[in-house]
Amino acid sequence: MNIIKQIDALRENINQAKKQNKTIVFIPTMGFLHQGHLSMAELARRQDETRSKFYIVMSIFVNPLQFGPNEDYDKYPRDLSRDAELAQRAGVDIIFAPTVHEMYPEGTSLTTVSVAEVTEGLCGAGRPGHFQGVTTVVSKLFNIVQPDIAYFGQKDYQQAITIKKMVQDLNFPIEIIVAPTVREQDGLAMSSRNSYLSPEERRQAPVLYRSLQEGAALIKQGETRPEIIREKIVQRIRNESTGQIEYVEIRNADNLATTSIIDSNVVIALAVRLGSTRLIDNIVVEV
Ligand code: PAF
Repeated sequence: MNIIKQIDALRENINQAKKQNKTIVFIPTMGFLHQGHLSMAELARRQDETRSKFYIVMSIFVNPLQFGPNEDYDKYPRDLSRDAELAQRAGVDIIFAPTVHEMYPEGTSLTTVSVAEVTEGLCGAGRPGHFQGVTTVVSKLFNIVQPDIAYFGQKDYQQAITIKKMVQDLNFPIEIIVAPTVREQDGLAMSSRNSYLSPEERRQAPVLYRSLQEGAALIKQGETRPEIIREKIVQRIRNESTGQIEYVEIRNADNLATTSIIDSNVVIALAVRLGSTRLIDNIVVEV
């Protein structure tokens, strides 16, 4: 498996695969791969009936446009040779790992892509400009790779909904598949940022998922008032950790609209800061 750093070379490589009638499958990542990323390649391999029709392209690019000035762009973990080994074992065919200069030769992009409404609130509130950075880089990557199918993780739920909306609104001919969140044995959602946690913070972190599960169970038992669910989750996180809650919200699972009564499928989403590490997680509850 090769690592390609240039856009032209990647296009040439993908053209060869297309000439062999391969389906181009794309998994965009920021690297420091964990099982959450690798599961998407494994899922694609399983969905590829012939085991050779899919050509799996994974990008590894820490995109400066989606980080705020006081965020962790500089310290975001990077280890390309480790990532390459893991990706190869998971069945990735080619890694695209461009430099910032290759993606933004002028230092930034004067053209941006932004999606309204679904990016408002939740992570959009605490990270101004973040989703515009994501949709801009993903549009560029889609134009470079021109995939048939692209995978995004459910852990970044608002991102996945935003990308789906962008693909629909801008007519990208790409099927978006949202892959389930992969969790550690104690329930903590896998994330490259988990590596920032101190041992004590790591011990506390599973309360996020426990509280989401409690919220989901209450809805399943018939609770329809979002504020009651929210309060239970907030209380549990406060009682069982030192985490600072950024948000706990219950939104429509399809379009992220706010809801005053739970009468259709919802997502319970939260962001909590443990020390200096910001963790997000969510659970979808079918009603
Ligand atoms: O989810 C991520 O890792 C990033 O937001 C993405 C989609 C690779 C864009 O930089």
